[in-house]
Amino acid sequence: MSQCIDLNREDELHRLDTTGMFAALESLSGQCAEANRELVEKVPLSGIEAISNIVVTGLGGSAIGGDLLRVYAAGRIATPIVVNRDYLLPEFVGPDTLVFAVSYSGNTEETLSAYAEALGKGASIVAITSGGKLGEAARQDGFPVVTVPGGFAPRAANGYLFVPMLKVLHKLGLLSDMTEEIDETVVVLKDMCNKLGPAAVEAANPAKQIASRLYGKIPVIWGVAGTSEVVAQRWKGQINENAKSPAYWNVLPELNHNEIVGLQFPEEILKKIHVVILRDEKDHPRVQKRIEITKEVLQGKIDGFSEVRSSGNGALARLYSLLCTGDYVSVYLAALNGVDPGPVKAIDFLKNELQNR
Ligand code: PA5
Repeated sequence: MSQCIDLNREDELHRLDTTGMFAALESLSGQCAEANRELVEKVPLSGIEAISNIVVTGLGGSAIGGDLLRVYAAGRIATPIVVNRDYLLPEFVGPDTLVFAVSYSGNTEETLSAYAEALGKGASIVAITSGGKLGEAARQDGFPVVTVPGGFAPRAANGYLFVPMLKVLHKLGLLSDMTEEIDETVVVLKDMCNKLGPAAVEAANPAKQIASRLYGKIPVIWGVAGTSEVVAQRWKGQINENAKSPAYWNVLPELNHNEIVGLQFPEEILKKIHVVILRDEKDHPRVQKRIEITKEVLQGKIDGFSEVRSSGNGALARLYSLLCTGDYVSVYLAALNGVDPGPVKAIDFLKNELQNR
């Protein structure tokens, strides 16, 4: 298959990117910095108390921050966190629940429905949005609203949608102060953007190299339970929405108990599968051994493997370093596919159609 674009042609990369996705990726560190110091400062949270569980409700690019929170906060917070991607909320939601209603546009119908349910169940709600009906409703109902800057694709506003939850939980006394970890993440992300951005040539740019390996293939992303699993899911979503390609994700060690058996037939499709393994120095030592054995088992059966290792010291920086790599890979893959990473016509069509039915 001949590629549509030479990834070393920066002008070509920008020509295809009509909505400024590269600039949005570069802004991720700035989003985290702004959310760390500013966005939540003046949001009044008084009256939220006696919380015994947390639900993050949202969809797509607005939901993934909930998974980042669930994974990152595990081990740091005693309160259980559930991510909800639906019209309805779990039965346990009640007055002792803190519901983060997250919708970048503020107009996603499932999130608006879940918001209304949370209101009916007497939950404490914090809305995170750039505006829309969600911002309006939450303000009218007297709930705190973290208003984030507009103008991004929701999936490109991840720092704005995720970091405020850490800040709110800290202000409520549910989570310790993460300011320094977020600061480190900002530094790591800036560095990653220099290494992975469009100006860095393919020979020195791991994101461009992985995109080239994934071109014409079916990307399958593997993360590790409790850490990079959420990033594997993020890579999948970003490849779908930015590169307009199918992609699948799974998690170790669970996939050792099913998926490795399934990678035998049909052979011609297996040869199209390229697996990306997200690795972290803190992965459980047994899981690291499992990865090596899994690669041996599948050697020659699939197109191949790529590995991405996290950078940074803190858990948050390491998670975000993997996430940032995936974001860039998805936009380079879009370029190789010859598509504009920004528009998501199928999502827009569906949302419009649903308004008329
Ligand atoms: O990234 C996207 O554009 C989508 O995944 C959206 O996030 C999703 O459709 C939900 O919309 P919103 O984030 O505005 O609630």
